[in-house]
Amino acid sequence: MSSASASPIQDGGGGGAVPRHVAIIMDGNGRWASRRLMPRIAGHRAGMEAVRRTIQSAGTLGIEALTLFAFSSENWRRPAEEVRDLMGLLRFYLKREIKELDRNNVRLHLIGDWRRFDADLVRDLEQAVARLSGNGGLQLTIALNYGGQDEIVRAAQAIVADGLAAAEVDAAAIEQRLDTRGLPPLDLLIRTSGEARLSNFLLWQAAYAELLFTDVLWPDFDAADLEKAVIAFGQRERRYGGR
Ligand code: FPP
Repeated sequence: MSSASASPIQDGGGGGAVPRHVAIIMDGNGRWASRRLMPRIAGHRAGMEAVRRTIQSAGTLGIEALTLFAFSSENWRRPAEEVRDLMGLLRFYLKREIKELDRNNVRLHLIGDWRRFDADLVRDLEQAVARLSGNGGLQLTIALNYGGQDEIVRAAQAIVADGLAAAEVDAAAIEQRLDTRGLPPLDLLIRTSGEARLSNFLLWQAAYAELLFTDVLWPDFDAADLEKAVIAFGQRERRYGGR
């Protein structure tokens, strides 16, 4: 194989490198709030401020792509009031931050089955994606109504719909039909709040990602925590099954 290969195996990792693509399971908003005797929505609001800080820090650190798990396909099981609050917060965030994101040259992608949200929110999301579509800086992806198994199932359905023969189905055929197509390979997946699970996030993409679990609750996550994670990534040796 040529050393100029674009394979994920050659891309971004180890030896002090900055990860090209970082994903985060933003966990612990509820516990952050309950420790302060506050309602859960207060934790989500504080989580929104952590989103803002993390996007800024990712740009500063030279990370190319940042993917955030904001609403899972399982989050519908939460009380209707909390689901409504989360949707409201997302609309508020888009309205408040869009100018700043644009000024910072951030491009927005959405992954998951987000078109099933209420029509107003879908419209706001589409407008935000369109407004930021010409930007060439940080590639921000927000996972909304996202489940990793669902994403793989939809990719398999697309393969059938495209009429591929069995012999034509390989990893590239699947990757080209995942919601994350076009993004750099995932290098580092962070989960906050001390839980050590993937919870159906980026199951395919995490195959060779470095995993980092921190006890910090998401609303407390700041620039120093992201920098620590990037440094830890740079110290890991990535072998992709080799020696
Ligand atoms: C998990 O914490 C967090 C969520 C389900 C929602 C994440 C949402 C935000 C960070 C705010 C808005 C997002 C954007 C992109 C503007 P949890 O509620 O499960 O916490 P717990 O495990 O402590 O109960």
